[in-house]
Amino acid sequence: MNLLNPNRPTTGRAWPTKRASSHRSPILLFCLLFFSFFFVFSFYSLSPKSLLSSKTLTPSLSPQCAPAHGGEKFLWYAPHSGFSNQLSEFKNALLMAAILNRTLVVPPILDHHAVALGSCPKFRVLGPSEIRISVWDHVVELIRSGRYVSMADIIDISSLVSSSLVRAVDFRVFASLWCNLNIDSTCVDELDPRSSSLDSLKQCGSFLSGLDGSVSKCLYAVNEDCRTTVWTYQNGSEDGALDSFQPDEQLKRKKQISYVRRRQDVYKHLGPGSEADLATVLAFGSLFSGPYKGSESYIDIHESPRDQRIQNLIEKIEFLPFAPEIISAGKRYAHDTIQAPFLCAQLRLLDGQFKNHWKTTFLGLQQRIESLGQSPHPIHIFVMTDLPEANWTGSYLGNLAADSLRFKLFFLEESDQLVVQTAKRLVDANHGMRFRFHPKIRDGDSQVTKLCHPSRLPDVLLYVEETVCSCASLGFVGTTGSTIAESIELMRKFEIC
Ligand SMILES: *[C@@H]1O[C@H](CO)[C@@H](O)[C@H](O)[C@H]1NC(C)=O
Ligand SMILES: *[C@@H]1O[C@H](CO)[C@@H](O)[C@H](O)[C@H]1NC(C)=O
Ligand SMILES: *[C@@H]1O[C@H](CO)[C@@H](O)[C@H](O)[C@H]1NC(C)=O
Repeated sequence: MNLLNPNRPTTGRAWPTKRASSHRSPILLFCLLFFSFFFVFSFYSLSPKSLLSSKTLTPSLSPQCAPAHGGEKFLWYAPHSGFSNQLSEFKNALLMAAILNRTLVVPPILDHHAVALGSCPKFRVLGPSEIRISVWDHVVELIRSGRYVSMADIIDISSLVSSSLVRAVDFRVFASLWCNLNIDSTCVDELDPRSSSLDSLKQCGSFLSGLDGSVSKCLYAVNEDCRTTVWTYQNGSEDGALDSFQPDEQLKRKKQISYVRRRQDVYKHLGPGSEADLATVLAFGSLFSGPYKGSESYIDIHESPRDQRIQNLIEKIEFLPFAPEIISAGKRYAHDTIQAPFLCAQLRLLDGQFKNHWKTTFLGLQQRIESLGQSPHPIHIFVMTDLPEANWTGSYLGNLAADSLRFKLFFLEESDQLVVQTAKRLVDANHGMRFRFHPKIRDGDSQVTKLCHPSRLPDVLLYVEETVCSCASLGFVGTTGSTIAESIELMRKFEIC
């Protein structure tokens, strides 16, 4: 069945959608359902817009929710902020998908801070539907401009998928199945601003974001967020209990808010037996969570002693490696270019809060370098920083660069051959599409078999740099509070080099 091509010939016949009353025979009921389905289906193909805004839609019969996917259920969510944040949400999404036994829709990597959540502790965040639609629109923009890079192109989840701990589908495959869209032609030229594909993709986004609410058996749009809910899993009788972190009285008065944060068991609320479980697609908003004042902002699932499968997954997702192409590039640079034991300095100096902390950041580096003591040979230092080389002069970094007798500095740029080659290899490897032939998704395969190369090379500098730093045998100095530093520490702990 071709759900995808908007230009395919459609009959457009309109059958009456009279409801079968209960005393009719099952065969008649079946026929009526069948014809109603066709009616809605053709209608959808002809005019997605009117369908999506139509309140008379019979949702259980809408094409998106037809049992064409062998009963498979999906989970999508709205990642945001920078890469490290998106990665931590991706891990939470893998966990939620496994707990709820749903196929995870793997998102692309969003542009740095293209979408922001806001602040959970201040109870000032984008609501789940709002953030879903922002993310959807941004993803459409990534597809349109040929800059789409899947999270699974960069982060290697092949062992999770092959061991059946999680099922995953690429966002583009999911969208082509659900949104009346042919990704093949989309990649090339179809997504110009006037195209009907772009239009139907956007319409589909507002539907799947739950802007008009959940649609029974089809879409369940999760409305809980970090203002009201901390998700837990199988933790005794605490389901429904108040979380230890609540908005304080002053905040409540000042902002006139009435939020109460409860700890809810995600399996009980969204798993088997719940209304959410009946829906083919479950849509979360942000899945960001962080420790805050002795609690977790949104997801408090760190172990699962009573469910070995989930426990196993939790251990595996603590660290997810980069794709092999990235790791081998980082190792090659350390081995072939630096060619000696080296120190890695990660200096975040420009972005956000970091521009006010130069002194502390440089002091940390200076102390570390002094602790290495005197050496007859120059100390090799790999520098990863957002400060352009032209601006080093006058800073401690400039001093190091000038003192070539004592120090030998290395750094990578986006235009370096190693980085460009790695980006090309990743595009060719196309890891994110590797699990597109999920056995349950047969219909529509032909729509996505052709490779959909991005027209621009992905930006992989950060990932290669992190890998180089994980190889630094003289040690690592990071910027306090930087999530990049945290992920390098994690790579070093897991000894990926
Ligand atoms: C999980 O979902 C798969 C695919 O939809 C299904 O075959 C399987 O029976 C489900 N497992 C459980 C424990 O419900
Ligand atoms: C259950 O929740 C408590 C806090 O409410 C926490 O200390 C404990 O580690 C949790 N146990 C599990 C198995 O998640
Ligand atoms: C870096 O140098 C350029 C040109 O010298 C200058 O325009 C820019 O403001 C500098 N940036 C910072 C962050 O110092």
